[in-house]
Amino acid sequence: MAPHSDAYWEERFSGRARQRIQSSTIRELLKLTRQPGIISFSGGLPAPELFPVEALAAASERILRDKPSEALQYGPTEGYPELRECIAAQQGVEPEEVLIVSGSQQGLDLLGKVFIHPGDQVLVEAPTYMGALQAFNPYEPEYLSVQLGDTGLEMDVLEAALQTRPKFMYALPTFQNPSGWLLDLAQRQQLVELAARYEVPLIEDDAYAALYFNGKPLPTLFELDRARGSNNVIRLSTFSKTLTPGLRVAWVIAPKVVIRKLVQAKQGTDLHTPSFNQMLVYEVAQGGLGPQIERIRAKYQRNRDLMHAALSAHMPVSVRWNRPEGGMFLWLRLPEGMSATELFKRSIEQKVAFVPGLPFHANGGGENTLRLSFSQPTETQIQEGIARLGQAVESLLGMVSS
Ligand SMILES: Cc1ncc(COP(=O)(O)O)c(C=O)c1O
Repeated sequence: MAPHSDAYWEERFSGRARQRIQSSTIRELLKLTRQPGIISFSGGLPAPELFPVEALAAASERILRDKPSEALQYGPTEGYPELRECIAAQQGVEPEEVLIVSGSQQGLDLLGKVFIHPGDQVLVEAPTYMGALQAFNPYEPEYLSVQLGDTGLEMDVLEAALQTRPKFMYALPTFQNPSGWLLDLAQRQQLVELAARYEVPLIEDDAYAALYFNGKPLPTLFELDRARGSNNVIRLSTFSKTLTPGLRVAWVIAPKVVIRKLVQAKQGTDLHTPSFNQMLVYEVAQGGLGPQIERIRAKYQRNRDLMHAALSAHMPVSVRWNRPEGGMFLWLRLPEGMSATELFKRSIEQKVAFVPGLPFHANGGGENTLRLSFSQPTETQIQEGIARLGQAVESLLGMVSS
């Protein structure tokens, strides 16, 4: 018998799989960035030379020697108790308010699973993290969006949206992926107060909180909310950007009743986050990740400066960009009417890649924007890549205005 065609399987996919779980055009385009010789500013990948390989190797050996049956056995869905307690202590919450997840990406999926009814409204920033839209989409939300720009969130639009009582708002106040923006203290306070007033839970995705380059970190939405005596904020964070994404260890902090529901949802997904990985993270992180994070900050800050200077040297004056105070991304705005997707096609011919802004917008828009990641490239790649990108912009500008 011959094997079945793809159509045999495809016609059996659920409506949800067909309509709500799809590869975007952008994802298809991004496959091109894996060609050899490409200078990539596209991936949101940590710099691999900063992974603490030796500390992880030593911890692996210790764990396998001293606690093999715990490391290699099934574990509690809530997470490895020592790690859970350590995170709870650091965050000033009770262990029962913490769930360890297999990457904050899984946290987003589980939150979508337990909160979103088909047709529910979910409020997001524009732009927002594309991976969150992918996590929420299968649960069939409708999106409301509020613009995040040079002056932060459009507060009037935000309040009007919150008044319509969406199911929750998903916010990235600290060095946002994709834009690198940092919401200032006044807007953080306003956001927390408005969300509480209209009884709209906030989901704060804080993957980049530790990666600030100067000064002191701002209080999180979670902290501001708890300081008011409220419990309206759910916070996600991860070891992916401070330690390594390969271990897939992250956490959700939420009221206990929410954690209990997320635990039930997680049982149906993967039973628990890998025990060995959680123990590794605990071993390496329990004494604090201070020096490790300092190295990451120093490298990313230097790369941010290099990229900023290269952009100033090579971009036409009509192109604008920000100078993020932390994180891994910089956001670039082309003149109105110019398409970053078209620019992508041109720049890939010059062997330079970035991510066009369109897929970071839940309700369309942002065609003239793009994300540049500065965490991974070398100094030479930044100089050379931005010079080539500048040429690609010049040539596209020539076409648009002629
Ligand atoms: C804002 C944001 N949230 C979540 C994630 C997923 O992180 P994790 O590796 O913990 O799943 C990322 C990864 O890039 C991110 O940028």
